[in-house]
Amino acid sequence: MAGKARIVATWPLTPHAVERLRDVADTIEDVSGDNLPKDELAKRLETADAIITFPLAIRFDKELLAHCKNLKVIATVSVGYDNIDLGVCAERGVKVGNTPGVIAPDTADIGMALILVTMRRVVAGLDFVRAGKFERGEMAPYGNALNRKSLGIFGMGGVGAALGQRGRAAGMKIIYHNRSKRSDVDPSEATYVSFDDLLAQSDVIAVTAPLTPETRGAFNKAAFAKMKRGAYFVNIARGGLVETDALYDALKSGHLAYAGLDVTDPEPLPLSHPLYTLDNVVVIPHIGTQTPETRDEMLELAVSNVIAALRGEPLPAAVRLPVPT
Ligand code: DGY
Repeated sequence: MAGKARIVATWPLTPHAVERLRDVADTIEDVSGDNLPKDELAKRLETADAIITFPLAIRFDKELLAHCKNLKVIATVSVGYDNIDLGVCAERGVKVGNTPGVIAPDTADIGMALILVTMRRVVAGLDFVRAGKFERGEMAPYGNALNRKSLGIFGMGGVGAALGQRGRAAGMKIIYHNRSKRSDVDPSEATYVSFDDLLAQSDVIAVTAPLTPETRGAFNKAAFAKMKRGAYFVNIARGGLVETDALYDALKSGHLAYAGLDVTDPEPLPLSHPLYTLDNVVVIPHIGTQTPETRDEMLELAVSNVIAALRGEPLPAAVRLPVPT
């Protein structure tokens, strides 16, 4: 292909990804191991035509994007793109691609794992065995059955749907809240309810919605107060959907039984945070998509987004940008 491009990657490229990118690029710079400070990254991006990016801590804000004079596409190796200023991208004609679909099964697995770990008190069980207490009798109190309980899913996209499937397999009744009712979801499999009904009716709530200005802080003091006493709370989406202090209070007071968090706000949550002093919370390090298979599929999709953008073709997974004002 004529007029080949310069591509920068902040996420490690596989040999296969590099081979595919060579079709559209003269220069492929993998800076993933360099841990570049923002000003250094800005310099590297000055003449880049495309960027393949992850982790999410790299923020494509107005300041960084101002340096990207040549940029045609940002391909994030994630489904979430809350680290990218879409308004600025739209103004500057920079396309944005993400990786929906491929992340759903693994992320839903982590959601189901957190539901199981919290409801069935798996961590307490581990501590009990390690403390040699099993030799003296049964662990108490018992965990909570999943069968016949209501799983409330906040955000019925690919991850929400895959989690619903897993919940149904465990005998749970699935209700969901979404920006709008999904016409492609069989109501006998998952019932649409208002946000207030989701809070009031769920035995366990799982957050699977993207972080947007509308969803930021949706789980606040008022929302937790509306949840059933003794309910469980799982977040596999973004920490910013939850007001961490309000969650801490709800867990500390015993209003919520237990929380399982793959994501936090801030992330990582500093070890000095009071949430870690509670026995009824499990925090894991944002591992929803962390399997070699899924990370590879995510990268391949990001590469496809870059190739399409540089060829002037529609992206296979394009993020819809706001209309510039
Ligand atoms: C995503 O794809 O947005 C995940 O959170 C990244 O692991």
